[in-house]
Amino acid sequence: MAGEVTLPPAYRLITLDTVESTNDEAKRLAREGAEDGTLVWAREQGAGRGRGGRHWASPRGNLYLSLVLRPECPASRAAELGFVAAVGLGTALASLVPPLCPVNYKWPNDVLLGERKVAGILIETESALQPQPGDPLEWMVLGLGVNVQHYPEDTEFPATSLRYEGAGDVTVEALLGAFALYFLDWANRWMEEGFAPIHAEWKERGLGIGRKIRVRLPRETLRGKFMDLDADGALLLQPEKESGIRRITAGDVFFE
Ligand code: BTN
Repeated sequence: MAGEVTLPPAYRLITLDTVESTNDEAKRLAREGAEDGTLVWAREQGAGRGRGGRHWASPRGNLYLSLVLRPECPASRAAELGFVAAVGLGTALASLVPPLCPVNYKWPNDVLLGERKVAGILIETESALQPQPGDPLEWMVLGLGVNVQHYPEDTEFPATSLRYEGAGDVTVEALLGAFALYFLDWANRWMEEGFAPIHAEWKERGLGIGRKIRVRLPRETLRGKFMDLDADGALLLQPEKESGIRRITAGDVFFE
């Protein structure tokens, strides 16, 4: 049953029954000048995309949304908004799922229930051909997929759904409303206080710090100890086979 969705006035909601990818639709709207807070929500996607060009299974029953943002910040700070979104979603989930179902984060922006992934975030943007440090970010699209009723069983990192974890009565509409509310709260804190409070909140529920991990980068895979989250959200790794610390800004993390 489709319920009502009420969002704070900062958002302009576009509801679609089906679409190839809400991120593609939001990017198209952003290029045409869509305002900050334009939120594209679809019941299902024909060609949902995940990070690294991977497929994102998108059957009916899960949440698929993409948000157009026009933050007044340099493009170099765009990645911080991925953490703002993860923390916003984590806060929303923690308010909706049973207390025995712990909400955790996996670097950079995955949201887990226990140690299984329930949600992923895909940030896409377009910038000048030769961006200079400090160039402003014209727009970015923040795409979010949450496994509410279904989860894929063939993923490299184990997945789960709210239903599998005993929270199948949470509706997509309630989750969308809660995410919109908490994302706005955390985004306002980010604008007023900077990244520090988001960094601290991520670390409260972030898994793997101090543990042995494997990080897959585009051209190599590194094993080592996850030392800490850097002040700007980068992963600080002490590789097994190197001295010194590697600062990683993009990659896929697996726990060893
Ligand atoms: C990941 O790989 O973890 C990120 C997954 C992001 C999926 C969402 S679903 C809504 C939006 N539209 C897409 O095509 N992808 C994102």
